[in-house]
Amino acid sequence: MSLKGQRVLLRVSLALLIALSTGNAPAQEAPGLAPAKRKLDLYEPPNPTLIRPSEDPKRTVNGLALVPPMGWNSWNKFGCNVNEKLVRGAADTMVSTGMRDAGYVYVVIDDCWQVGRDAQGVLVADPAKFPSGMKALSDYIHSKGLKLGIYSDAGSKTCGGRPGSQGREYQDAHTFAEWGADYLKYDWCWTGVRKGEEAYALMADALRSTGRDIVFSICEWGKDKPWEWGPKIGNLWRTTTDIRNAWTGRVKFQIGVVDIVDLNEPLYSHAGPGHWNDPDMLQVGNGGMTDVEERSHFSLWAIMAAPLMAGNDIANMDARVGHILLNKEVIMVDQDGLGIQGHRVRDDGDLEVWSKPLADGGRALVLFNRGPQPADIAAKWTDLGYPQKMSAEVRDVWAHKSLGRKTGTFSTTVPSHGVVMVRVTP
Ligand code: GLA
Repeated sequence: MSLKGQRVLLRVSLALLIALSTGNAPAQEAPGLAPAKRKLDLYEPPNPTLIRPSEDPKRTVNGLALVPPMGWNSWNKFGCNVNEKLVRGAADTMVSTGMRDAGYVYVVIDDCWQVGRDAQGVLVADPAKFPSGMKALSDYIHSKGLKLGIYSDAGSKTCGGRPGSQGREYQDAHTFAEWGADYLKYDWCWTGVRKGEEAYALMADALRSTGRDIVFSICEWGKDKPWEWGPKIGNLWRTTTDIRNAWTGRVKFQIGVVDIVDLNEPLYSHAGPGHWNDPDMLQVGNGGMTDVEERSHFSLWAIMAAPLMAGNDIANMDARVGHILLNKEVIMVDQDGLGIQGHRVRDDGDLEVWSKPLADGGRALVLFNRGPQPADIAAKWTDLGYPQKMSAEVRDVWAHKSLGRKTGTFSTTVPSHGVVMVRVTP
């Protein structure tokens, strides 16, 4: 046999030996071989539309928003008419009015800031409306001691028809992190057959992979019961469709303040530090309610430990509106470190008593009159989990004044659609 013939024989015998020893003869790969095993030999780039979120049962929370987040959001007042000048102005106002120091730190740019994607697929901010770009705007916001909130959507498009993040979760999360975003509101339009938990878990993973602390605001309107799966995925979740600039009544996708209250209240047990029910952004100062109703709106949001996102034109608000948004004693109830969402403890038709346990052992109380006439409402200590014979200091948090010590009951007259909000301290 020639030298070449010997080499060929050697190669064939070697191949046979290897094949026999591994039990996997290359030329005879069985048609029934499990596809997963066959895949091991192939490199396939991941298909972004098939990436699944981590299903690790040990999924942990991100440790953020231990008290309900506070800030300003462009949507309720300005809708799609958002631009850099407006956002800078809002940031300036948050500092000059004392809002920042009262806790309003997130400046959230809602829908319609995006116009498309560049050749690499990176989201592009509207150059006409945001001429300095998002990074410069973010730097400005941070230079004021504030934080940047940005908006995207789990579907192919946002509710305003701009590019959504579906299939681009990691790319967009990293873009937001590079811009310095501290908060992401993630909406639910154009999501087709997606499941809420899957879609939000995927973006939560993407945000986590950036290494930046980004509060995650789930905005799927309560459709897939986000209070059941949200606590380990996000920091807050909308419980309803959008808030109307009105006391009550539905118009298309929007419902009034008391309609939202009735949907958000029963979910109180799901809220806690780091994970909050979100009854939507505030309509205080937007002109659709009376002063009494706006105070009720703000008080009920505070007793429900709701995120407090001002939704009005803060740069041009008058003293009356500022007086509501900047009421530090009401804000303290919302931001109380115990992190318990208050709820209705007595329901006598139009007359209600709400209670929220506080970190100092006290209670915040809201006496709420939904009726058309002023009415007397009494809160009994036993409704608050206190012994009837106990005495406690009662302080009116709107009037900023002590009402003295009371034993067993606190009662007062409450205006129509109004509240009396007090702090009870044993
Ligand atoms: C949805 C959300 C709103 C707002 C708009 C923007 O309706 O629920 O809060 O973000 O989309 O298009």
